[in-house]
Amino acid sequence: TLNQQFEEKVRPCIDLIDSLRSLGVEKDLALPAIAVIGDQSSGKSSVLEALSGVALPRGSGIVTRCPLELKMKRLKEGQEWFAKITYQDTVKDIDDPSDVERLIREAQDDMAGIGVGISNDLISLEISSPDVPDLTLIDLPGIARVAVKGQPENIGEQIKRLIRQFITKQETINLIVVPCNVDIATTEALKMAQEVDPEGERTLGILTKPDLVDRGTEDTVVEIVHNEVIRLKKGYMIVKCRGQQEILEKLSLSEAIEREEAFFQAHPYFSTLLNEGYATIPNLAEKLTLELVNHIERSLPHLEEQIEAKLAETYAELEKYGEGPPTDNAEKILFLIDKVTEFTQDIINLTTGEE
Ligand code: GDP
Ligand code: NA
Ligand code: MG
Repeated sequence: TLNQQFEEKVRPCIDLIDSLRSLGVEKDLALPAIAVIGDQSSGKSSVLEALSGVALPRGSGIVTRCPLELKMKRLKEGQEWFAKITYQDTVKDIDDPSDVERLIREAQDDMAGIGVGISNDLISLEISSPDVPDLTLIDLPGIARVAVKGQPENIGEQIKRLIRQFITKQETINLIVVPCNVDIATTEALKMAQEVDPEGERTLGILTKPDLVDRGTEDTVVEIVHNEVIRLKKGYMIVKCRGQQEILEKLSLSEAIEREEAFFQAHPYFSTLLNEGYATIPNLAEKLTLELVNHIERSLPHLEEQIEAKLAETYAELEKYGEGPPTDNAEKILFLIDKVTEFTQDIINLTTGEE
């Protein structure tokens, strides 16, 4: 079953990467991750909150203002939900899922200032629950076309630079989020992904807002998801998340998943996509988890090379420092005598002009 697959194969891989990340090796090595990119309001945060089951800040305009690393850990059935948010020197435990959104907003205000600025600093949110997939995803600010009041003129360039930092890494799978009512060929996100991954080997397309598709363009959307328009090796998925109205109505995330399934089942054009496994958040979660594990397995040899190179470099550096003082008291005295003798000899050599 899928659960067994998780326990045996998926879990160890993801734990390995997460523990490397928590040791801080990311400064030196690139670790496998999934980054979410797209235009502002394309639905990135909505997809992430649907995958995680936790409400995240989202809405119109620039809402995601710092990179947000969302580490999800699947617990055994019956274990309790808990979370932890980490940024700069702050670490906060979270017991109540409904606090997450506010705490992320506060973290963003701390790092990027109140308002519409952005920051390159990472907020890390760890969620452990029986209801989440084993995945680590990175939410990024949306690509903005024009600066709004209070933003620097070059905000678009700033955001693109930040996004590039993440998507350039060979170890990152790039999720390109595009609404069904937008022409995918013209989206900046796809262009950026193609720049760093011309063959589309580590790029996955996600179509959002299928309920807002323009009439008469449904066939094109089906062709895109069938990978017949802009080919990506990892292909496409289509999902429906909560719209603004459903959020106002306080539709829960689990009800939204049920509605999503019913939406695709009843849809005259998109129901085939559901039958083929290309639609819905739960299918996306499964696909992403397997993609990430395959990706980690393929990255491991390269990761090992990087670790060995780094280790050799560090040994060479250590070599330069010679031996440190001993811990044993008797040896300490001998060590000190040696050092004093060496030092005295150096001074004698200096005064007598010898080397
Ligand atoms: P982001 O800026 O890319 O992170 O986009 P958000 O996730 O903040 O979503 C922008 C808006 O689109 C929000 O008002 C969402 O409620 C809405 N939205 C997201 N997904 C869907 C969808 O599948 N259908 C509809 N109708 N609205 C959606
Ligand atoms: Na938004
Ligand atoms: Mg967002």
